[in-house]
Amino acid sequence: MALLRIRKDGDDVLRGKARPVTNVNASIRQLVEDMVETMRASRGIGLAAPQVGVPRRLIVIETDDALHEVVNPEVVRAEGREVAIEGCLSVAGVVGEVDRAAKVRVTGLDRDGRTIWLEGDGILARVLQHEIDHLDGVLFTDKALAVYETEPAHYPEAKRLKVLFMGTPQFAVMSLLSILRDGHTVSAVVTQPDRPRGRGMEVAASPVKQFAVKHRLPVLQPGDCASSEFVRRVAELEPDVIVVVAFGRILPRSLLDIPRLGCINVHASLLPRYRGAAPINWAVMNGESVTGVTTMYMTERLDAGDIILQKEVPISPQDNAGTLHDKLMVEGAALAEETLRLISLGKAPRTAQDEGSATYAPLLTLKDEMIDWNRTVERVCNQIRGMSPCPGAHTVRSGKKLKVLQASAVQDEPRHGSPGEVLAADEAGGFVVKACDGAVRLEEVQPEGGRRMPAVDYLRGARVLPCEVLGANT
Ligand code: NI
Repeated sequence: MALLRIRKDGDDVLRGKARPVTNVNASIRQLVEDMVETMRASRGIGLAAPQVGVPRRLIVIETDDALHEVVNPEVVRAEGREVAIEGCLSVAGVVGEVDRAAKVRVTGLDRDGRTIWLEGDGILARVLQHEIDHLDGVLFTDKALAVYETEPAHYPEAKRLKVLFMGTPQFAVMSLLSILRDGHTVSAVVTQPDRPRGRGMEVAASPVKQFAVKHRLPVLQPGDCASSEFVRRVAELEPDVIVVVAFGRILPRSLLDIPRLGCINVHASLLPRYRGAAPINWAVMNGESVTGVTTMYMTERLDAGDIILQKEVPISPQDNAGTLHDKLMVEGAALAEETLRLISLGKAPRTAQDEGSATYAPLLTLKDEMIDWNRTVERVCNQIRGMSPCPGAHTVRSGKKLKVLQASAVQDEPRHGSPGEVLAADEAGGFVVKACDGAVRLEEVQPEGGRRMPAVDYLRGARVLPCEVLGANT
């Protein structure tokens, strides 16, 4: 066994197209062994042969205690999209947000030359795609939506703070990253307990936990944030400030009182508008053209604390909840960073919210997801955008749910038909459904128990007939 030298960005071997392995022999097996050893020694979770100077198609991956070695790997199926943060042993000092397929199926050979199949989602899907990119001379920085330095930024006048971070989904990961990048000390990360996620409902760690584990930050997952045991634990950490981003719970006074500089929350709206759990969905569903992010001092009342900073973010007609989420995630992280900087300098502004203008964005219910074809075309389209990709607005066809993930208004407004009636259902005319003042063209759908697909693909298999009526009461 031998440790191999990892080539860094700028080395030509990282930029060529690697050749397939034609014979899985002893020297290939030795290379696999050495790559695994090198990956482990560098605390990486994946390594491609070009990264150790060998331009051959061979990758090793180790996630969640499972080791995968794939010779001549090839992606044969890819589903869904997901933006997440990744880094690379060959690119020092930076991480980036990369948009990749959420789930992939890969085929290749094992170390004995036998054909293997590998299916993965989450981190495994991401690392598989990242390593296979290396075989084609592609680095993650080539396709990153944004790249961040992991070395502390230099704000000479700002003081480093001791931060306790609380958050759960991907939205919060970006803020945590910006806090670390700014050189603050994160003494612990608090996140919701692991729970079943995704279609398979397998128990999985939250994105914040996955990030924290990768960065070797202590993780706390209390069942109850108000328990005296948890409150004592936090008090012992003596944080200067607690930063809360999409944590999913209201904090008790006993916790809010601990940090000397207060509890800061990043919220995905321009408060006092859209207080509550689903501000991104509701802003799009209500047809807003602008929303934003707010940082505030938390109180015991939901999203009612004094405002520190705000930034507006426009909503384009092409945005859906997913794309807006990604924009607000980036802006929220930048605002968290700036807020901590001002707090450390004792210069953070503080403005009470105007209670009279408060509006609410409650958790989405099944009723909110149901498309009401008696509404206007504009409202139906906004509802579909505001629910896409998750949880997805739906209608009912033959007693089964049909999610509609993308739709558009039909310009030459049809006069006939009643709400919910199918006006066209063929390749030429598309999948067109009557709403109260016009019609909506369904562009992407997902039948119950099926995959998401272009509406024309659905029409081909589903035998939709004009004059059929969609909706709950049929
Ligand atoms: Ni890499």
